[in-house]
Amino acid sequence: MKRSRRSGGEILSDDELKLMRKAGLVVARALDEITRTARAGMTTREVDAIAVEVLARAGAASSFLGYEPGYGVPPYPAVTCLSVNEVVVHGIPSDRVLADGDLLCVDFGAIVGGYHGDAARSIAIGEVEPQVTKLSDATREAMWAGIGAARIGGKIGDISWAIQQSITSSGRYGIVRDYTGHGIGHQMHQPPDVPNYGPAGRGPVIQRGLCLAIEPMATAGNHRTEILDDEWTVVTCDNSVAAHWENTITVTPHGLWVLTELDGGEAELTRRGLPFGPLAD
Ligand code: MF3
Ligand code: CO
Repeated sequence: MKRSRRSGGEILSDDELKLMRKAGLVVARALDEITRTARAGMTTREVDAIAVEVLARAGAASSFLGYEPGYGVPPYPAVTCLSVNEVVVHGIPSDRVLADGDLLCVDFGAIVGGYHGDAARSIAIGEVEPQVTKLSDATREAMWAGIGAARIGGKIGDISWAIQQSITSSGRYGIVRDYTGHGIGHQMHQPPDVPNYGPAGRGPVIQRGLCLAIEPMATAGNHRTEILDDEWTVVTCDNSVAAHWENTITVTPHGLWVLTELDGGEAELTRRGLPFGPLAD
């Protein structure tokens, strides 16, 4: 989301968190299906149609379709953001045909019972250059580092710092600053902002029942971005390729729960020695 003011964020009950998990599972399923089926020769509009179908099957609503960020920007016209290569985020599905070597970043949000899930994956179409794989892997790793830094009683800045450290230690990448992660719940975008850089120990306290979308965006060049004339598409100023990974998470008394992963994050968290702490059904 676009950067905004700082505040503590919405606190959800355990029953509300279970609905957040339902929304997150719809998002995870759509992204999983798109990751398995997107290939060279498809248009990005055809990729969007896959997500439309997952929403219909689940009886869920889209977080993105018709979304109006304010300040006169036209409502968002699709259910996914499909951002190819130098497009960082908010690429609009179109007649663009995916080609071998493209990096397709898929961002998708769903509403179940009034609660939102929001996540993104970067997908290699065919064979991409090794630097592109490295950039996507570094961004994905930074997302997990950020998730792993979240704990009850900690600060939002702890997440930001972990993301920045992770990307910086992976190579010479630009960390996008114009967009941040965000609180999520009854609305897709709500306080607090979760920046992808900055010092630990600062910002709002992470409380039980807070849900966050953690979403690093990194480029193979510098951090600067601009918005195209369609008022949505965000591209790198230097035309370098960009990657974007996102998950919606919450922190329970038992550990982390990644609401937008099929397994709740169990495999990736366990692999990193992080506590997996879903709520029981
Ligand atoms: N997941 C995106 C974000 O957090 C939301 C896309 S904006 C929309 O920035 F308009 F497409 F909804
Ligand atoms: Co988001």
